[in-house]
Amino acid sequence: MKPTIEPTPVQPCLPPTAAIRHLCDQLNAAFETGAPASASPLHANDAAFAQRVRSALAAAVADPELLDDPAREGNAHGYRRHLLAADAQGRYAIAALVWMPGQASPVHAHHTWCSYAVVEGELTESLYGWNEARGDATALRTQPRAAGAVSFTRAGHAAIHRLVNESGRRAVSLHVYGVAGAQIATHVNDLVRVAEGGIEAVSSALHRNGPAIAPDTVETPAHEAAPS
Ligand SMILES: [Fe+2]
Repeated sequence: MKPTIEPTPVQPCLPPTAAIRHLCDQLNAAFETGAPASASPLHANDAAFAQRVRSALAAAVADPELLDDPAREGNAHGYRRHLLAADAQGRYAIAALVWMPGQASPVHAHHTWCSYAVVEGELTESLYGWNEARGDATALRTQPRAAGAVSFTRAGHAAIHRLVNESGRRAVSLHVYGVAGAQIATHVNDLVRVAEGGIEAVSSALHRNGPAIAPDTVETPAHEAAPS
């Protein structure tokens, strides 16, 4: 894969809250009980691993102490990512994404598996189908993703989506990516071309609200972790 921007510094996996620490424990356990041996993309026979990751995220977002205020701070210029923890073995990284009203991700597939859960507010997720012959994506459907909603996505063009905050208040989501922390900004999202006329109505709404596509950057960890 071709990195699109420079990697950013990352702290070792020393979680800032008990809930994030517990999530790391759960993810470590998922890897130790039949998961992929590395951070490589998952395949269809990894359903059990996917379910373990989903369960771990669901439990994490049910904890009101999951994220403190610094991890929920947004940015007026685009959605903001707070790197919270990174596995010392490079198998996964955990980030909180903060979406102010009108902010959206690009349409993208993924270079690796990833899973997310909505912590606060509500997001809208648009799903796309990939046309291999044309090399572009077409919008299929849109669904609301309320607090507590959990999703797991495998690598590849079979799962293309876009997240947007169409609500009038802040939304926060927790994401786990199957990459090392230093690769979170460069080796996760696989931006894809959208078919002509395939842009959803939400795009025009976003234009009315001004720039909403985030700069592809990762915030430094919201909490400094001691080196291990
Ligand atoms: Fe994604």
